[in-house]
Amino acid sequence: MRWPPPPPGRVGWSWLLGLGWRRRRVRRLLLAAGREGWPHGGLLVDVGAGTGVAAGEALRLAPPGTFSRIVLVDPQRGMLERATGRGTGVERVRGDAARLPLPDGVADLVLSFGVLCCMTEAAIPSAIAESWRVVRRGGRLVFAVPRTRGDVDDPRFRSVGFRPVADPRAGWKVYEKPEVDYGLASPRA
Ligand SMILES: C[S@@+](CC[C@H](N)C(=O)[O-])C[C@H]1O[C@@H](n2cnc3c(N)ncnc32)[C@H](O)[C@@H]1O
Repeated sequence: MRWPPPPPGRVGWSWLLGLGWRRRRVRRLLLAAGREGWPHGGLLVDVGAGTGVAAGEALRLAPPGTFSRIVLVDPQRGMLERATGRGTGVERVRGDAARLPLPDGVADLVLSFGVLCCMTEAAIPSAIAESWRVVRRGGRLVFAVPRTRGDVDDPRFRSVGFRPVADPRAGWKVYEKPEVDYGLASPRA
């Protein structure tokens, strides 16, 4: 699988202009992921959260009390500053998907929407390994990239141990970290 080169410069206002359709797509994906059951309570981590659209929709769609804590991680301070109105218990943390500022196995649900396609090829294995590290056993990763910018059925997710559990639409995938540890090696360089 080939990932395209990252866009030049920082991701800016252009993607914000599409928020309406993005929000509808996020809603459809999370509804599809929810058909298999939401995690019960705990921590939602939105990696490369931008303004927190995905986390906001997850919070709105999940049964009340599903998530007691939400962490939005993004390297751009400006994005996090715009992530307002997502409710209480939302933490905004500046950080890198390839080096998440979170302990092991704490997240019930990790969201990665349009993020790996913004990273360099060299950084992607570390970002996948980090998602694996922070999600708990039985927890889930919902992963999406624009269809023109990558492939969600990346063998590197399977190589760390993620199990695909749903294909809600082209360009979107739901992975699970199985309860059982098969002892697969981390791909982190
Ligand atoms: C296309 S936006 C998607 C934002 C959000 N996930 C959404 O769906 O609305 C890509 C985001 O990835 C963030 N990003 C870029 N490189 C990153 C990295 N190495 N680690 C974490 N986030 C990154 C950008 O700052 C930007 O907010």
